[in-house]
Amino acid sequence: MDRIALVTGGTRGIGHAISTALKDMGVTVAANYGGNDEAANAFREETGIAVFKFDVGDFEACKAGIAQIEADIGSIDILVNNAGITRDKPLHKMDPDHWNAVITTNLSSAFNTTRNVIEGMRERGFGRIINISSINGQKGQFGQANYSAAKAGLIGFTKAVALETAAKGITCNAIAPGYIATEMVKAVPEEILNSKILPFIPTGRLGEPEEIGRCVAFLASDEAGFITGSTLTANGGQYMT
Ligand code: CAA
Repeated sequence: MDRIALVTGGTRGIGHAISTALKDMGVTVAANYGGNDEAANAFREETGIAVFKFDVGDFEACKAGIAQIEADIGSIDILVNNAGITRDKPLHKMDPDHWNAVITTNLSSAFNTTRNVIEGMRERGFGRIINISSINGQKGQFGQANYSAAKAGLIGFTKAVALETAAKGITCNAIAPGYIATEMVKAVPEEILNSKILPFIPTGRLGEPEEIGRCVAFLASDEAGFITGSTLTANGGQYMT
């Protein structure tokens, strides 16, 4: 498939699986990362995928990073807004720093990247924008007022952008993963994971990053052109929308 993709947070966790799933379908991938050079270099050596370091929470950094990708590789046809962080605290213990960091990296980032690719997609009459939301943006989660707000915000963003771009050959969809076996989920205290999360996943297991990679590959394909503004949930039955 003769397309070029940018995957934010594309070198680790779910992002790693998304980057490789797109590569496996013949897409040329640029994987963005924020700070972990060691992981990014290991990813580049393992996969042969080019990596680009910039802060998705910073509009000007995104503008420069995307210009660099377009100069090095070509115009971006597929954008996957995957980068995300957690700063879990109950609201009564949450500081403005915890709120702002999560809203900036998980939600404002989608504006920062999408705004910098949307004009090119409109001119070329093709685009695939895929926003990685979360089950916790759909149902809320104890300790995640910031993260749930950001991930719910991505679903509203998805629908508005889908409406604006449907007539231009561009689709915009969200994916809402449940609990996937990544470092982010492994950071949840074990007793909370075992008592409050795992018992409520009907499949009886965490998801695998590759299972989300395959969702992205489907929505990114040329054949998925009639699907826009939707949220694809992949959560083992934990929350049915
Ligand atoms: N539901 C109900 N009660 C919960 C709870 C939950 N999900 N999680 C914690 N509690 C309870 C604890 O059992 C404890 O109860 P007791 O006081 O009766 O023992 C109490 O809340 C702890 O309250 P504190 O105010 O002391 O909370 P804390 O400062 O210890 O912080 C926390 C707790 C940081 C929120 C911790 O519970 C936690 O990390 N929870 C997991 C949050 C989570 O699921 N994050 C998802 C990360 S993965 C991800 O985000 C990816 C994705 O998209 C799915």
